[in-house]
Amino acid sequence: MGYRNLQAFIARLEQLGELKRVVAPVSPRLEITEITDRVCKQGGPALLFEQVPGYGMPVLMNAFGSMRRMCLALETDSLDAIAGEIVSFMEAEANTLLKKLQLLPKLARLGRMFPKTVSRAPCQEVVLSGDRVDLGLLPVLTCWPGDGGPFITLPVVITQHPETGRRNVGMYRLQVYDGQTTGMHWHAHKGGAQHYRVAEARGERLPAAVAIGPDPAVIFAATAPLPEDIDEILFAGFLRGEPVELVSCVTQPLLVPAESQVVLEGYVEPGERRREGPFGDHTGYYSLPDDYPVFHLTALTHRRAPIYPATIVGRPPMEDCFLAKATERIFLPLIKKTLPEIVDLNLPVEGVFHNLAFVSIDKRYPGHARKVMYALWGLGQMMFTKIIVIFDKEVDVQDQGQVLWRLGNNVDPKRDTVFAEGPVDALDHAAPLPHYGSKMGIDATRKWPEEGFTRPWPEVIDMDPEIKRKVDELWPSLGLT
Ligand SMILES: Cc1cc2nc3c(=O)[nH]c(=O)nc-3n(C[C@H](O)[C@H](O)[C@H](O)COP(=O)(O)O)c2cc1C
Repeated sequence: MGYRNLQAFIARLEQLGELKRVVAPVSPRLEITEITDRVCKQGGPALLFEQVPGYGMPVLMNAFGSMRRMCLALETDSLDAIAGEIVSFMEAEANTLLKKLQLLPKLARLGRMFPKTVSRAPCQEVVLSGDRVDLGLLPVLTCWPGDGGPFITLPVVITQHPETGRRNVGMYRLQVYDGQTTGMHWHAHKGGAQHYRVAEARGERLPAAVAIGPDPAVIFAATAPLPEDIDEILFAGFLRGEPVELVSCVTQPLLVPAESQVVLEGYVEPGERRREGPFGDHTGYYSLPDDYPVFHLTALTHRRAPIYPATIVGRPPMEDCFLAKATERIFLPLIKKTLPEIVDLNLPVEGVFHNLAFVSIDKRYPGHARKVMYALWGLGQMMFTKIIVIFDKEVDVQDQGQVLWRLGNNVDPKRDTVFAEGPVDALDHAAPLPHYGSKMGIDATRKWPEEGFTRPWPEVIDMDPEIKRKVDELWPSLGLT
């Protein structure tokens, strides 16, 4: 059963020694970053900063900052297990009575995915609207010295398509400009930006709500690259194994997770832009300032004793790397539904999600590696992948030593490199233009005669198994370990 709220998740982390309380007063201006960065780089625990001078709420950091905590957040022993469950739903059959009976628990779980609307909610224990709205109540972090201001870094932004009414939930940072306005940093390719595009074309304001600190499954779902029009709240319900409770906003026609710590309600005005950034970003560089829409608050509601969750991003590895690894593992089986030849995929954390992908495939025909590159560049947010390297199926792409060994040996750079042009991530500072640039694919598979390679391809060096067995027997007596 899912965590009821962030408090329940924190209690579990503490019980398992995965959370430390910091009682010394620490400023949200740079100091929380420096402490959290050091702890994160050492693989340390989640942190609850209990005294943030000038603010009445503690700050939670690094809650998702290890594979163990990521699994705890999604209440699973392994992320691959979640992937397996998703696949089992997709492959469910009901062609015999036994299979129909086996399907019943699955159907019950599906039924529990759907959100439930409630009329009273903890996130509305305190309601501030109109002139009483004041973002200054929140201990918003100024993360890095060169940042353009304080940023809300773990916000779950909720909008509805102005024509279809379909919901989108995405994590897009918010730069705080003053007590009642923030930036709305949804990149051009994201769900929220599409809703805003439609609203702008109609000359309308787009209502938006921001849940700060809903339960961990909702936070993860907001970061997940779900296809457009698939509701992240349903996905969170699936992950939690029970419905997410939603409540109507006080001043906007939107529903928000009832157990959130804080909710910001408001709208994004058509045609309005304001300079956003710079911001010390996922890439480890400051992302360049740019013009983004502006979020105007109409209400700020919160629990009576809220906790303010935040994250810092910067040079990897950081907390976001674990959210990204969870996405890689959970979404791999879904990618395989379109590309069954893919054996495994590794987006190394140093590659900052989409800069670098190592992919192993079961190569079946000439040019297969290239087909996989192009298919990945056409698949949702995989379109951002700047460099894709394709290996044969026996290569363990999780082993970076093996990857570099095969890459160095198996590639003729001129023949095996493919360049393509297309959309690039908004954070890509190397591309010649914002949002548009190039990608590189490298075919590091064994080359076939049908691909024009007529020289013999050498075998990999391996010891005779009989000799290995003999040395295994001898080994203890050799005194070498
Ligand atoms: C900590 C964190 C901060 C993020 N900040 C942004 C952001 O400011 N803008 C953005 O477009 N994506 C940001 N992302 C990535 C999106 O949340 C992600 O692409 C998500 O899939 C978007 O949802 P959507 O597909 O519904 O638009 C962030 C991700 C994380 C983990």
